[in-house]
Amino acid sequence: MSTWPKNAWYAAAWDHEVGAGLLARTICDTPVVLYRTLAGEPVALHDACPHRLLPLSMGFREGDSVRCRYHGLKLGADGVAEEMPLRNASVNRKVCTRTYPLVDRHRLVWIWLGDADKADPALIPDLWPCSTDGWVFDGGYYRVACDYRLLIDNLMDLTHETWVHQTSIGQKEIVEHPLETVVEGDRVLVKRWMPEIDPPPFWRNALGKPGKVDRWQICEFVAPSNVIIDVGVAPVEDGATLEDHDTGARAFVIDCMTPETATSCHYFWGMSRHFGQDDRGLTGRLQAGQAGVFFEDVEVLEAQQRSIEANPHLKMTAYEIDSGGVKSRLIIQRMIRSEQAP
Ligand code: FES
Ligand SMILES: [Fe+2]
Repeated sequence: MSTWPKNAWYAAAWDHEVGAGLLARTICDTPVVLYRTLAGEPVALHDACPHRLLPLSMGFREGDSVRCRYHGLKLGADGVAEEMPLRNASVNRKVCTRTYPLVDRHRLVWIWLGDADKADPALIPDLWPCSTDGWVFDGGYYRVACDYRLLIDNLMDLTHETWVHQTSIGQKEIVEHPLETVVEGDRVLVKRWMPEIDPPPFWRNALGKPGKVDRWQICEFVAPSNVIIDVGVAPVEDGATLEDHDTGARAFVIDCMTPETATSCHYFWGMSRHFGQDDRGLTGRLQAGQAGVFFEDVEVLEAQQRSIEANPHLKMTAYEIDSGGVKSRLIIQRMIRSEQAP
C-alpha cells in the first residue's frame, strides 16, 4: 500500500529550478520532467518517451516542445506527438506521454499526480509567508534518503532541537516546557511556550539585544506533506502570549517534504522573517545557517531510516513528544483510505 495520498498537491520544485532546461524528478514514484514554455508556463510531462521509454529529460528543448534524444520523436507541451522519428511518416496524435497539472504558487511549483479532474488549485497549501509583502523569504533543498513521514515526525516534535541542534537553536528549556497538541480537521498544531528564558545563540542574534525572552514554537501540519512552524522570541517586557506574539524576532519556518519513493523524499525548506527586513546580508546568513541546521536533521533521519531497515523485527514506539507526528500520520492514513474506498 502506498504511504501517500495521490490526490493532493505536492511541491515539485522551487520556482527558480524550473526554466528552459529539462528537470528530471521522481515524485511519489512517478518520473516527471519539468520545464517552462517560452511564455513562462510550467509544464510537467511523464518522463518516458512513448517509443522506447528513454527519459524525455535526456532530450532537447525545441520551442515549447521536447525532442527525444534517442530517435527524435517530438512531443509538444501537451504531451502529444508533433513529429515522428521518420520525417515522412504521418504524425500519429495518439502517440503521447501523460501530462500533469503544474502550478506556480508561494515560490514553489506544485504538481498533482492523481485524478486530473480533481486538481483544484484552491487546494494548494497556503504557504503565505513565502509570498506576502512584509516577510522576507529564502530557502533551499535537500534530497533526503528517508520516508517523508520521518521528516514530518521530526518537524512536529521540536524536542529534538535540544540534542540535534545544540549549537544553534537548541536549549535545555525546550525539554523543560510542556507541549500541547491540537487537531482541527486536517490540521495538527503542536504548541510550546517558554516564558522568561535566556535565548539560544541564533535567537539572541536575531533579536539584537540582551535580556530574558519569551520563546514560542507552534508547529502546524498541512496535509499531506508540509509543516509550517511559527517561531520566535520577544523581550519579556513586550508581554507576548502564545495566542498573540507578533513582536520581537518572529519567523515562519516552511517545510515541504515531497515523497520521492517509499524511502526517500525531496525536502524544500526555508524561513520567512519579520525582523531585519532590509538586511540582505542577513538573508544570506540565515539561509546558510539554516542549511547547516537542517543538514543535522538529514544526517539523523537518514541514519534512522537505515536503522529501521536493518531492524525489521523492531517497531518504533511513541511517547508524549510524538503526539504531533502520530496525529499527522493518522490524517495521512485517512486520506489514503478515502482514496481506496469503493
Ligand atoms: S525512445 Fe524516444 S524516439 Fe525512440
Ligand atoms: Fe531539526
